[in-house]
Amino acid sequence: MTRREFLQTSLASGILVPSRLPKFVDRLTIPPLARSVGMKSDAPLYRLAMRQIERKIHRDLPPTRMWGFGSTSPGPTIEARRGEPLFVEWANELPNKHFLPIDHSIHGAGPGIPDVRTIIHLHGGRVPPESDGYPENWYTPGKSVVSFYPNQQDGATLWYHDHAMGITRLNMFAGLFGLYLVRDEGEDALDLPKGKYEVPLILYDRSFHADGQLYYPVSADPAKPWVSEFFGEAILANGTLFPFVDVEPRKYRFRLLNASNSRFYYLTLSGKQTLCQIGSDQGLLSAPVELQRLTLAPGERADIIVDFRERRGQKIWLQNDRYTILEFRVSDTSSVDAAAIPRRLRTIQKTAEKDAVRTRLLTLESPGDPDDPSMLEPMLLNGAYWHEPVTENPTLDTVEIWSLINLTEDSHPIHLHLVRFQILDRRPFDVFTYLNDRQLRYTAEAIPPDANEAGWKDTVRADPGMVTRIIIHFEGFSGRYVWHCHVLEHEDYEMMRPYEVVRPH
Ligand code: C2O
Ligand code: CU
Repeated sequence: MTRREFLQTSLASGILVPSRLPKFVDRLTIPPLARSVGMKSDAPLYRLAMRQIERKIHRDLPPTRMWGFGSTSPGPTIEARRGEPLFVEWANELPNKHFLPIDHSIHGAGPGIPDVRTIIHLHGGRVPPESDGYPENWYTPGKSVVSFYPNQQDGATLWYHDHAMGITRLNMFAGLFGLYLVRDEGEDALDLPKGKYEVPLILYDRSFHADGQLYYPVSADPAKPWVSEFFGEAILANGTLFPFVDVEPRKYRFRLLNASNSRFYYLTLSGKQTLCQIGSDQGLLSAPVELQRLTLAPGERADIIVDFRERRGQKIWLQNDRYTILEFRVSDTSSVDAAAIPRRLRTIQKTAEKDAVRTRLLTLESPGDPDDPSMLEPMLLNGAYWHEPVTENPTLDTVEIWSLINLTEDSHPIHLHLVRFQILDRRPFDVFTYLNDRQLRYTAEAIPPDANEAGWKDTVRADPGMVTRIIIHFEGFSGRYVWHCHVLEHEDYEMMRPYEVVRPH
């Protein structure tokens, strides 16, 4: 099919059908490294400007309008080191008009509130509250804020993204996110693949009009255009559709991030190639975990090693179920790669349950009528809306257990700002009994977290019909933060709550 025929076929339906495009004609792009522009109070200062840009997602499509940082989306990768603070000036240089459909009936997005507004959050960062990107602290084009990142935390794959009240799903969909890697001595000592052998892989799904422009759906009700979830036909890797990447027959380290609005990934490699997970959201695991399939919920990260040594001259595909995301082309050359993956990566001290000063039972549920599915929105955290007073107010330097009681039919990736935590377990319970008389009746034994979830996390899958328990040490800073579901459509529509770390008195 020629390009013209292709455009005509897809125009007929209006929505781009990715499978009609030739695969693996574009090389995987790597987001550039951010460079500091100067110093501020003895620390490097970066400046990242949010702008409307155009980029090609596929050879046979015209450039796509999106929002990025500088001239790229995903934005430049910021590299930080533990203990070395830095500043970022986040400048809003976007146009005054949004190109995606805003739902003005959503809290915080009402009429009179400027359409284009942003505030950047560092996901996974232990950051003082004034630099954390509180959703209501958004600002408009022409303005900028400077955030301070202390980097007093272990090496990890963090990421930055927009968090503006009521339109995070649209600003992220437009492209406002990027990686932020914290490195430390522990990781240096392990001799992991580095330089060109360490590759970021940011995955996100999108829908496009046939002309290559982004398409975000609206509901049938013009007064409430919000949709409850978004799943796109196309899965991009670092912003390209069906990219290929040339690799040598040796080990590579991939920094995976699920930056999708709603999609969970179940990733496999073709040819029964295994992958070895060495890190999760908040840094290295205690030991590598060999996997056939990797689950990644929105907001989650995985640090993985893939060894192409036995695959000289072959092609390996990264797949999500039956969808092929990307092609690795293993060269026929030889490559020196002596270092083995260390069997011990680091020591992870288990937080003891007896150290918890408090257990909070927190439901994930909808106040709507279960007999009328159209009434099942919004979904709330412990029955409360965003605007209600703070109810989660842990004391600084104490440990708490949060039991997430999921009464909905969805899995929700729950993220807390400021902290890292450990997953204790997930336990099935009788939802019906709970809905009727608020009694927790467990129906089976508790299930420990998967081996690749047993390290430090900041986002956890709360599966339906399960009580998911996490144990959290509230350390670093006191002040106002948020916790929320990282399915962005849920987050924007009330599945987010403020919480406050209070000073002991
Ligand atoms: Cu990645 Cu509050 O978000
Ligand atoms: Cu959710």
